[in-house]
Amino acid sequence: MMPSSRLTRSSRRSCKPNRMALSLELLRSPQTVRDRLILALDVDELDQVKALVQSLAGQVGMFKVGKQLFTHAGPAAVRMIQDMGGEVFLDLKFHDIPNTVAKAAVEATRLGVRMFNVHASGSLEMMRCTVKEVGRVCRQENLRRPIMLAVTVLTSLSQKDLERVGVVGDVGDQVVRLALLSKEAGMDGVVASPQEVADIRAACGRRFVIVSPGIRPYKGKLDDQKRVMTPREAIRAGADYIVVGRYILEAKDAVAAVREIVAEMSGAGA
Ligand code: C5P
Repeated sequence: MMPSSRLTRSSRRSCKPNRMALSLELLRSPQTVRDRLILALDVDELDQVKALVQSLAGQVGMFKVGKQLFTHAGPAAVRMIQDMGGEVFLDLKFHDIPNTVAKAAVEATRLGVRMFNVHASGSLEMMRCTVKEVGRVCRQENLRRPIMLAVTVLTSLSQKDLERVGVVGDVGDQVVRLALLSKEAGMDGVVASPQEVADIRAACGRRFVIVSPGIRPYKGKLDDQKRVMTPREAIRAGADYIVVGRYILEAKDAVAAVREIVAEMSGAGA
């Protein structure tokens, strides 16, 4: 069985429709502990990307390209990672009118990314339109279907932050509400704080993909994150994937930091 990060670029872009369902099924359930760790490449220089991917390609399951790197380097960053054998989670958190988000999602699909995301609060219609359009283009152009995720409530937001923007009620309830809406729209899963993973799992079932940022190993500092857990706690709670950025990027030895996190995940029975 070929782990996600070992797929060649050409196989990513040309899976036959009958193999697509199989490969999606395999990749929905990460195969090894390492596959479950996503490194947030929150840097801006392509040289930094190259060095990180070179040293960590066999150590993590996926590389996350977010707003900072994509705004600086664009699709070239994605292609560079893919050419070096890495899989990409395109974390641009699309939130716009349905037609615009669906078209952006199609371009992400054409880039061959393994995962991308939209904001669940963008509406049921926005997500449905995205799922439909990506599915149509995958069939028409014989492309691999990416894992489509919806962001529930950012891990940097507290109850008070939500109240200030008019969302009253419990954060956990809001997360589950948005997760159920995403599922209804046909999304494959959600991005959510590890603190809400257990409730999402209970509401949305075992096959719904849960990706959790807001991970802080035991001795890590919080930075701007508020609703955090350790890697061990997140895996125990039922997260399929965890996303870690600064803890690895700011470490003196990034490879050692990755190994420490993978060991902690393994200790949780991952
Ligand atoms: O450095 P740190 O580990 O906090 O990085 C977390 C990463 O996960 C960042 O790239 C951030 O954009 C992303 N993220 C998040 N909260 C979400 C979704 C994505 O922190 N709800």
